[in-house]
Amino acid sequence: MKFFIDTANLAQIKEAHELGILDGVTTNPSLMAKEGVKGKEAVMQHYKTICEMVDGDISAEVISTDFDGMIAEGKELVKIHKNIVVKVPMIKDGIKAIKWFTENGIKTNCTLVFSAGQAILAAKAGATYVSPFIGRIDDGGWDGIDLIHQIRQIFSVQGFNTEILAASIRNPNHIIKCAEAGADVCTCPLDSILGLLKHPLTDIGLAKFLEDAKKFA
Ligand code: G3P
Repeated sequence: MKFFIDTANLAQIKEAHELGILDGVTTNPSLMAKEGVKGKEAVMQHYKTICEMVDGDISAEVISTDFDGMIAEGKELVKIHKNIVVKVPMIKDGIKAIKWFTENGIKTNCTLVFSAGQAILAAKAGATYVSPFIGRIDDGGWDGIDLIHQIRQIFSVQGFNTEILAASIRNPNHIIKCAEAGADVCTCPLDSILGLLKHPLTDIGLAKFLEDAKKFA
């Protein structure tokens, strides 16, 4: 399973990248706004900086909701860097745009996916990635991991090549469960990635080893 970081924060991207386990980055308009990036030039420059930091797929989201607008934005975005993946919302014109991008050799990430039916449509249109939002499904009282299992089953049975990119990850256990369910990629906040490191028995064991090491230092 590939690890992407789900942020536009450069310090967090750097920290995850330095761990040596980062395969890519996903952003969205909310994450960009959180970093205070304002204006088209600044947004484009921010994506360029991220692309220069991490050699992997970098999702940059369109903000148009009509076909022509999404195509125009996507064409601009892919000029920034060869690793840009155009992130497109799961709406009718989004599906048409994904089909167009696919036919024109441009990678896509279909975002805001909350059902298996939406995932099938994205795969039929040729999306490179489909992004089910695990945490937001859990927030609604359903089980996001169940959706990952269901999409994995469908894509495997049908032979769809679209990669399942589990998004809206809220904790380390989500990452483990997504790996178990067969997600191809998990895009995570830095805290959730670092949370995988933690176990109290590791801390207790290390403290004891270091204490005993003093006996022969
Ligand atoms: O990748 C999608 C993600 O950013 C959404 O996460 O925590 O806002 O549901 P969240």
